[in-house]
Amino acid sequence: MLNRRETLLTGMAFSALPSVAHTHTSPLVIKPQQGIARLGPPDVPETKIWGYNGTVPGPEIRVAQGSEVTARLENGLAQTTTIHWHGIRIENAMDGVAALTQAPVPPKDSFDYRFTVPDAGTFWYHPHNRTWEQMARGLYGPLIVEESEPPAYDRDLVLMLDDWRLNDDGQIDEESFGSLRDWSHAGRLGNWPTVNGAPQPDYTVKRNERLRLRLINAANASVLVLRLDGMSAQIVAYDGMPIPPEPLESTVIIAPAQRIDLIADVTSDEAALMLAGRENFRACGFPVKGQKRRTPLGDTVALPANPISDDFDLANAVKTTLSIDGGAMRGFTEARVGGFGAAYRGEAPVKGIISRRELAFEHQLVWALNGIAGMPVEPLFKAEAGQTAVVKLINEGRWPHAMHFHGHHFRELSEGAPWRDTILLDPRETKEVAFIADNPGRWMLHCHMLEHQAGGMGTWFEVT
Ligand code: C2O
Ligand code: CU
Repeated sequence: MLNRRETLLTGMAFSALPSVAHTHTSPLVIKPQQGIARLGPPDVPETKIWGYNGTVPGPEIRVAQGSEVTARLENGLAQTTTIHWHGIRIENAMDGVAALTQAPVPPKDSFDYRFTVPDAGTFWYHPHNRTWEQMARGLYGPLIVEESEPPAYDRDLVLMLDDWRLNDDGQIDEESFGSLRDWSHAGRLGNWPTVNGAPQPDYTVKRNERLRLRLINAANASVLVLRLDGMSAQIVAYDGMPIPPEPLESTVIIAPAQRIDLIADVTSDEAALMLAGRENFRACGFPVKGQKRRTPLGDTVALPANPISDDFDLANAVKTTLSIDGGAMRGFTEARVGGFGAAYRGEAPVKGIISRRELAFEHQLVWALNGIAGMPVEPLFKAEAGQTAVVKLINEGRWPHAMHFHGHHFRELSEGAPWRDTILLDPRETKEVAFIADNPGRWMLHCHMLEHQAGGMGTWFEVT
């Protein structure tokens, strides 16, 4: 038996994911490179992908809460890349944001990541450079941080959901990369969902078995509506942060980059995870073989709390309003170009206010945050370490957005709101969130619909 707490990496409980043994003499190497995956139905050819170590998802990294992760990125791509450890309250220099926290890693070059993981929960990793293309091609993997004393369950299963856009030959549709239509509408929506890089996989379970399901939405832009048939499930965490357990009654929404942890008892022979928004697409099945026990385990399923404080000091908070505008069927008539990329490359940023048309057709920018399209040279706000930050997110437009803050979890300023690192805003919706800005550095804040991010919906804040 493997002792989980001494093992950095294990294979996924019962999927086809590769298992990489970790010892102290061989550092974990994560190499983005080309690979082949059976994504589509049996009658279409296998798909050429880009995967970490050639597979999708990449290797599962599984560590104990509070431990140190060391991972070497070896770039096997023909493009520059980085790795971002999504949702980890990490040291800024290890956050993996190209140009903001590190130089992007050239082909054949490498970068050593080393960080500790303060929170237990379900996290993941992905590139943060041309993310819209690199993730659409398959670069992502799970990062699981284990509690020292989790509630009782029989098995732990990570389910990484994706939504690919494949052409008739089963290959990634490359022609639509960079499509201004996608960028200004809902983003790159796929036509073929997978779970753990497989088409409608089956995971064999036992009757009355208790599963911990860790759902991760790794799609570029699709907001997924999930239903779990044949199981009695409780939601125990969002975005890696525990909540008081809530029964999953009918459906639950998982926006891009979000995670949901469930504790689920198999109560029927017809258990399946369904995408309810897609005329009931069966994302994966759980065929039952045998019986685990006569009756399900009791109802103690709450996860232990993570070390995060909501002792907000609202009186002395730095307060910011973020107006999200742009996209099709709405929008600003003009905006400034943020200019961060140009400044980083040593070029003169485009100055002045530019018309919507020129922004779109000259700069491929279709979204603006507070009237600035693309990463600004100056941060959205600065906070002193330990200061409370309040951000009012106002979605002025007609499209939903999944807003993600780096380096911090936040929560809405309403009673009992869960901690999140990514929050979904419906069209015309406003949400006010707060967090204690206790992690020094330059942190990105952007829409995790990756075409929106690329099309201008990115900014940053600084904790000094
Ligand atoms: Cu999951 Cu800025 O990223
Ligand atoms: Cu968006």
